[in-house]
Amino acid sequence: MNRELFDKAKSVRDRAHAPYSKFHVGAAIRSEAGAVHIGTNVENASYPEGVCAETSAISAMVAAAAPGPGRRIAEVTVVADRIDGRLTTPCGGCRQRLAEFAGPETPVHVIDPSGSGKTFRMDELLPAAFALEETE
Ligand code: THU
Repeated sequence: MNRELFDKAKSVRDRAHAPYSKFHVGAAIRSEAGAVHIGTNVENASYPEGVCAETSAISAMVAAAAPGPGRRIAEVTVVADRIDGRLTTPCGGCRQRLAEFAGPETPVHVIDPSGSGKTFRMDELLPAAFALEETE
């Protein structure tokens, strides 16, 4: 677990817009260029229009960096409460979105706000991923 990513993901989680689910999630990506990009979940009165924390962080990374190492995910940390003791892992859609900018071995740290959690490889979360080609 990377302490800086944990601190940033935990902190941005406090800024979630989650009035419907009341479930706050923070994400922090470290790119291969070394920059850190953060995101939180942004819900909407039209429920399906909400976006997850991981997706917000990916958007921040893409907005900040041109194609290349600045847009490749070196590691990502997601911070959210446990649900019935289970860690909050990225949803299916976010796994696919993360895989767009990550490799099979990219660490995905899934951590609760107390700092306990587990590190998964991208290909554990999304085995047999769909990909048209190698991207950026
Ligand atoms: N959510 C995330 O932001 N990331 C996850 O990994 C799981 C779920 C959000 C979506 C929604 O705003 C809320 O958590 C409840 O599902």
